[in-house]
Amino acid sequence: MTHFDTLIIHANLATMNDEFGFGGQVPYGQILDGAIGISEGKIQHIAHSAAGLTADQVIDASHQWLTPALIDCHTHLVYAGNRSNEFEMRLNGVDYKTIANQGGGIVSTVKSVRQSSFDELYQASEKRLKALIGQGVSTIEIKSGYGLDLENERKMLLVAQALGKNYGITVKKTYLAAHALPPEYKDQPDEYIDQVCQWLPILYEEGLVDAVDAFCENIAFSPEQVSKVFDVAQSLGLPVKLHAEQLSDMGGAGLVAAYEGLSADHIEYLNDNNIEKMADKGVVGVLLPTAFYVLRETKLPPIDRMRKQGVSMAVSTDCNPGTSPSTSLLLAMNMACTLFQLTPEEALAGTTRHAAKALGLEHQKGQLKVGFDADIAFWDISRPADLSYLIGQNTLQTLLVGGKGYNLSAQ
Ligand code: NIG
Ligand code: FE
Repeated sequence: MTHFDTLIIHANLATMNDEFGFGGQVPYGQILDGAIGISEGKIQHIAHSAAGLTADQVIDASHQWLTPALIDCHTHLVYAGNRSNEFEMRLNGVDYKTIANQGGGIVSTVKSVRQSSFDELYQASEKRLKALIGQGVSTIEIKSGYGLDLENERKMLLVAQALGKNYGITVKKTYLAAHALPPEYKDQPDEYIDQVCQWLPILYEEGLVDAVDAFCENIAFSPEQVSKVFDVAQSLGLPVKLHAEQLSDMGGAGLVAAYEGLSADHIEYLNDNNIEKMADKGVVGVLLPTAFYVLRETKLPPIDRMRKQGVSMAVSTDCNPGTSPSTSLLLAMNMACTLFQLTPEEALAGTTRHAAKALGLEHQKGQLKVGFDADIAFWDISRPADLSYLIGQNTLQTLLVGGKGYNLSAQ
């Protein structure tokens, strides 16, 4: 087929695709002055030249750089309220754990979410989504976890679903009721976990759950408690992921591997044994450098050892009111390079092909590849490394979602 709905010409392509040398000899799997043919929302053709190709609509990219649209694979974007008071407390010497143990932290956002109507929660969250889309994000994961009862977890997931529908982007919804112990279950974590296990099939039946997450930490839930939730997920055929080894080594990453899950996230305290298990089972390591920065963490995730073992590393915002009040995936890429010493190519892989893998979308999104969704970001940059190098500059020019131009000025 040489006639397409849309043909993009004179484009510098960071394909992130092995067929064009990604991961081998060709940085970013790049093609200079290339062309892409798109029909029916999918990439149909990628070539070094547009010779012989025709289309209903031709876009001259004028040598802008094109990447797969970005993917933010770990967010708590749906929330209400504001926790800058805790930011201020931390800077006055009180640590995150102490704030959490005193009923602040996650539980204070739970109060705000419970008090918000669907519309209030939607409006508060919409602003953050707009900011991310404005940076070329067309696929995002959104977690529940600030409701902590059936009605409010449902409300959060419904807001996430509505955002995806109304904004025409892909939203993957993750059930995170095992995020913190709600006040009504004080000192009864096992009873709460039983509830979490009972709500999951209900919300799943309502079409509100694509994956299951938990917070495995000494201030949250133990690996045994998390396993109970994961067992229910597994019985429903839902993939699992985990907030693992963020503040201490609880062995959560090994647990995800045992369930052949999608990802282990944060992973500053990840040990060698579990790196091997992740590599073995293809579990993605999701790096959240903005949370590392906000918490002034000093323990670095074991990047080099993950690299050597071949663990795919994704990079995400962790957008949340406590540890990462950020809506900039580009800043997360910059921080992944500066703080964690990822290369700019690894950072871009972390927000494209590896983020897609962390969401189970590796056969559909995250690469410029024939058969993949035509979700494509156009950037006014000299080289792909500029995406990680520039701080606070948004160079996005155009975003195609499913082959159609996304109206960014409406954002
Ligand atoms: O990813 N670690 C647990 N969850 C969030 C923080 C949530 C919050 O503080 O509200 C995180 O860092
Ligand atoms: Fe998180």
